[in-house]
Amino acid sequence: MKVGVLGATGNVGQRFVQLLEDHPWFEIDALTASETSAGKTYADAAAWALPNEMPDAVREVTVRETSADEVSDEVEIVFSALPSSAAKEVEPEFARDGYIVASNAGWARLEDDMPLVVPEINPDHLGLLEVQRDERGWDGGIIKNPNCSAITMTPTLAALHPLGLNEVTVATLQAVSGAGYMGVTSMEILDNVVPYIGSEEWKMENEPRKILGEFDGARVDEADVSISASCNRVPTVDGHLENLWCRFDEDVGEDDAKEAMRGFTTLDLPTAPDQTIVVREENDRPQPRLDRNTGGGMSVVAGRIRDDGDARLKYSCLSHNTVRGAAGASVLNAELVAERYL
Ligand SMILES: NC(=O)c1ccc[n+]([C@@H]2O[C@H](COP(=O)([O-])OP(=O)(O)OC[C@H]3O[C@@H](n4cnc5c(N)ncnc54)[C@H](OP(=O)(O)O)[C@@H]3O)[C@@H](O)[C@H]2O)c1
Repeated sequence: MKVGVLGATGNVGQRFVQLLEDHPWFEIDALTASETSAGKTYADAAAWALPNEMPDAVREVTVRETSADEVSDEVEIVFSALPSSAAKEVEPEFARDGYIVASNAGWARLEDDMPLVVPEINPDHLGLLEVQRDERGWDGGIIKNPNCSAITMTPTLAALHPLGLNEVTVATLQAVSGAGYMGVTSMEILDNVVPYIGSEEWKMENEPRKILGEFDGARVDEADVSISASCNRVPTVDGHLENLWCRFDEDVGEDDAKEAMRGFTTLDLPTAPDQTIVVREENDRPQPRLDRNTGGGMSVVAGRIRDDGDARLKYSCLSHNTVRGAAGASVLNAELVAERYL
């Protein structure tokens, strides 16, 4: 299946290119970026910032402008790693022209007809694609993955939700790559922690409630879990670490919580990890440097699960923000769409 990457030269775009290099189902046919990069080879346009070499197959590919007119009709899926402002303009254009857009961009995640999907949690919400096509008159559609900090904790919340989870307090320690390649300067972040990330707390407080919600065939009824978030930028490169305090309807044992996380759904899709949530027993794990590549960067790693009294548990969790938190999440969403709809 031929695919394209929109915003291919950026942080997340490069992850897409890397993850798609040897993909068993998808083959890159088009790479797009801003007007500044259009017309250059990918090797010239992208300041490659990932540890492995840029794949040879894309080095000489000419980067195009980001418009549906620039992408072949043979392409079925485009992955969007565009800033939200640009995505809002062009993603509907691609969807109208028949492409499936697997999007990272924040705009419209909470709109009623927008599927916001984590395949292991709410694959049935893909049914919103039909609602979206009916309402907007599109031949294609847009499917969103959550924000990188929301997706880190959401699989653990999904595992705990059936145990009576009703309230979550969370503090994040988020890596600099989450701000994009040009996002935070070294003078801002070295020897420092910034206790504010614009609009991140709102996303963390709302996106999981939609993902954990019930789809009735027409709309999603949000889960009745209250979430309060406090977000911090810290000087790690990749991997968002989060500390959570969770309240339940009644006491939940640590072992029950661990069992629910370890036994959480796994999928048989190319980008799905063998274990969605890996629970560690050491007192000092998870850690970004040691744990972010677990399951190829697609597993969430949880640890320090402990009783906090008064029907509460506290724990830490971590995921790779540009893999599970961005490009890997979109590729997994596209695999789900390809398996079930195309
Ligand atoms: N970084 C993360 O961990 C993360 C996690 C989850 C979601 N996201 C989301 O993913 C998206 C991309 O983030 P990023 O960190 O990869 O950003 P980035 O490094 O700044 O890359 C942005 C990409 O979009 C292109 N672009 C910018 N303005 C454009 C325009 N007006 N028209 C067409 N292309 C344009 C850029 O092309 P040029 O190189 O030509 O400028 C570049 O390829 C954002 O919506 C972000 O919120 C990021």
